[in-house]
Amino acid sequence: MTVANVIQKQLERASWIRRMFEEGIRLKAERGAENIYDFTLGNPSEDPPPGVLATFRRLANMNTPGSHGYMPNAGYQEAREAVARRLRQETGVEFTGDCVLMTVGCAGAMNAALKAILDPGNEVIVPMPFFPDYQFYITNHGGRMVPVETKEDFSIDVAAIESKITPQTRVIILNSPNNPTGVIYSESVLRDLESVLQRADHTIIVLSDEPYKSIVYDGAKCPEMASIISNCIITTSWSKKWGLAGERIGYLAISPRLPEAEALSNACTFTNRILGFINAPAIWQLVTIEAPDESTDMATYEEKRALMCDGLARIGYDVRKPQGAFYIFLRTPIPDDLSFVRTLQDEGVLAVPGSGFGRGGYVRLSLTVPRETIVRSLPAFARALANVPKGS
Ligand SMILES: Cc1ncc(COP(=O)(O)O)c(C=O)c1O
Repeated sequence: MTVANVIQKQLERASWIRRMFEEGIRLKAERGAENIYDFTLGNPSEDPPPGVLATFRRLANMNTPGSHGYMPNAGYQEAREAVARRLRQETGVEFTGDCVLMTVGCAGAMNAALKAILDPGNEVIVPMPFFPDYQFYITNHGGRMVPVETKEDFSIDVAAIESKITPQTRVIILNSPNNPTGVIYSESVLRDLESVLQRADHTIIVLSDEPYKSIVYDGAKCPEMASIISNCIITTSWSKKWGLAGERIGYLAISPRLPEAEALSNACTFTNRILGFINAPAIWQLVTIEAPDESTDMATYEEKRALMCDGLARIGYDVRKPQGAFYIFLRTPIPDDLSFVRTLQDEGVLAVPGSGFGRGGYVRLSLTVPRETIVRSLPAFARALANVPKGS
């Protein structure tokens, strides 16, 4: 046996992703890629803003001596200061460059933070549905995931969270705007959570996973988690905001209001290194200093969201518009989402079952497909709905 038992078990738990991917390849080969509508991927469809690419090219061409080497483990001080400056403006909280760590995407930031915080057996509360990789990030570092139900509209249920707190609870992961539901957590619900955390008899950290923060619709604004929650660590990346998930650039920022913030920052710099992430991509760190205000064009996502939601509602689906991120979490017409995913597949539509996110009865559809795919897929969605066995 060469693969560790624990990884073998995780592979089996994650195997639905692989199966879906393989099924997609098979269907595309069988029926022609143009007849398959693949809504499974979360890869941003918009290219990076031109200003970001121009900055990247200019910096790469400068080829300054030493610019391809290691820098201090936490990243270029200037990049860290630039992040802290922006966070001070946005949150009103006195973030400093010393509590910012440049990371390999948001996933790198989350893993560095969890490794620095968790001892074996510590618990991490995660509202359901959730980004499936959280369960693996948590077990990577000896933690135990404690899932907690959300309300009917997928907003967080503070009383339910409070009921799950034990002496072992160290972290609550919040992801707003949320993948997969598209929900933005309101300021009032976050204030209620802050009261609970302030009453707790030990420090519980909110790990605020924010890669979709700037992807919002109808002029919505995502409340600043760090302004409301004292014990907050922000983890984020430019993966979605700039559409460059493959470049792996993100950061982790520790609120100065968190007890022992400086010690935790040192610990995260160390865990980032020993996890093998030393260091965040050098050139992209520099790009983040120079092109901070660039953002992906939301008009395209807005249009695709309207096209998809209105189209599905016209057909007869029970659809809720996402407030942010680029997914639609669609209620399935039958409770068995895995069965409905197969019905959709028969019609050439590939979707991710909600069960994979810890919430059956839904499928996730990604808006990162071309507009044309949405238009051409709607008749297939209509056929799938018509094919659902009556009374099921
Ligand atoms: C909720 C959530 N958190 C974290 C990540 C990881 O982001 P990154 O690619 O920047 O590591 C993703 C990626 O899809 C995500 O959806």
